[in-house]
Amino acid sequence: HTPKSLTGADKGDEFLRGGNLQSWFAPNITSDPHKGIGSWATDDIVAYLKTGANRFDIASGPMAEAINHSTRLWDDADLTAVATYLKDVKGDGAPAPTPVAATDAAMTAGKAIYLDRCSACHISSGVGQPSLFPTLAKTPTVNGTDPTSLIRVVLEGSQAASTAAKPTTPAMPSFGWNLSDADVANVLTYVRNSWGNAAPPVTAGQVKDLRAALTR
Ligand code: HEC
Repeated sequence: HTPKSLTGADKGDEFLRGGNLQSWFAPNITSDPHKGIGSWATDDIVAYLKTGANRFDIASGPMAEAINHSTRLWDDADLTAVATYLKDVKGDGAPAPTPVAATDAAMTAGKAIYLDRCSACHISSGVGQPSLFPTLAKTPTVNGTDPTSLIRVVLEGSQAASTAAKPTTPAMPSFGWNLSDADVANVLTYVRNSWGNAAPPVTAGQVKDLRAALTR
């Protein structure tokens, strides 16, 4: 099992720094402390690949499938070898961006939507509930340069990976039917720039384009 098979990424310098695939963005899994998984210990990576969840994240989309069909069946020695390898992969070394100001119009509009629609599960401080609702604070998906997967999860909802170790699968409801393009952009701009997160704002145009691609 080479780590490459986890992402299919194979572009030299871009290796494991994430990429867009079938309207999902595979997150950066280098040891970059902001955009990557630098804060995950080897055991956290093993738990994620074995069970689909750890104290930081719950797998969704193609990653949940990869875990279900493949990594959950690997033995512990292989998982530990991959995790140890990933801990050694350096990120691009770029510093974290400056977060969008809390007083920005998109941020205040996004905060109101977040408190109304999202905080029941993800909690007002963004930390979620261990193994049930993923934390949105300081995670690589949320801080990634490309917001495709985040927009997609909010528009379509998502069901977490079910594995023998974690048979119950919490679900994220879809908001595509009751949030406008601007609402989705604002709430995600708020999520990407709160609680220690910092990432480029999401635009209504990006939401509109993905909505069109998904219904095609
Ligand atoms: C009923 C509970 C619930 C509500 C309400 C909810 N979520 Fe979620 N959310 C989840 C669950 C469960 C997952 C994990 C789904 C998966 O792994 O496939 C999730 C996943 C996510 C993710 C992906 C996180 C990651 O690291 O992959 C994002 C982003 C997200 N939610 C944002 C939101 C936003 C924004 C709102 C409000 C508009 C919201 N959620 C409302 C339960 C909820």
